[in-house]
Amino acid sequence: MAVDSTDHADKAPAIRVRNQRFGRSSAQQRWWANGDPVATAWLNALSATFPRGETLFIDSVKAFRDGAPPALAEEIRAFIRQEVNHTREHLAFNRAAENAGYDLSQIDARVAALISDVQTNPPIAWLGVTIALEHFTAMFAHELLAHPELYLPSSGEQAELWRWHAVEEIEHKGVAYDTWLHATRGWSGWKRWKLRSTLMLLTTRHFLADRFKDATELLGQDGLTGWRVKARLAWYLLGRPGILRRTFPLWCAYFLPSFHPWKHDDRALIRGYDAGQAAAPSPAPAT
Ligand SMILES: [Fe+2]
Ligand SMILES: [Fe+2]
Repeated sequence: MAVDSTDHADKAPAIRVRNQRFGRSSAQQRWWANGDPVATAWLNALSATFPRGETLFIDSVKAFRDGAPPALAEEIRAFIRQEVNHTREHLAFNRAAENAGYDLSQIDARVAALISDVQTNPPIAWLGVTIALEHFTAMFAHELLAHPELYLPSSGEQAELWRWHAVEEIEHKGVAYDTWLHATRGWSGWKRWKLRSTLMLLTTRHFLADRFKDATELLGQDGLTGWRVKARLAWYLLGRPGILRRTFPLWCAYFLPSFHPWKHDDRALIRGYDAGQAAAPSPAPAT
């Protein structure tokens, strides 16, 4: 069977590190996502996982960068710089959510425990989990940039942060995967497919169950509890706007033997974002 073909190389864009800061100058509203507690809880829950999650991604890719071809080595360096910046900005975002009254410590503890669990396995398994989660971030990033009106306020620094993160996630979506292809270059196609598919199924189960629990817990901190609140969250994810429903075809594509992130060409979203930024007043540069 043909596996993991690499005929995508012409599509992967150059990776630009847009080192920016967001949300330092004003307090974050408790329900910053259009006054919607459910949307806020979902996005805050995701953000709470990013600092530890992105550190895992960096460690996983670093473990296999020795001997990488020069072009991939360069991409790995840019990937790490982007993820380090994302971590810094989401730590600031998470502090702002805490200042708005949320306690994220339980979520953080669950993520820390899960990552410790992952790291009891060989580093190739960390990388397998990383490529699965990078596929999730690329799918969600595509949705946020293609349909920002469904998910984000039309203005404000929180919306800017999420769009900035999304564009860089799309831009570097092939890097961990190419590192995986490099790390498993001596494997049979079947062995490679079997491990990445198995890890995607396990990762998906944990990701969905844990994020649902995290968001439910944050809604509980708003005093919103009970089955109706859980049903509202489920409808938000599967009905309207329905990010899980809308990204399901992309999730399925991961299981194709010939999958590669750049078989889904969404470079137009990067170009659109950069053109909008060039036309807008300059954002705060990071120091
Ligand atoms: Fe990131
Ligand atoms: Fe990423």
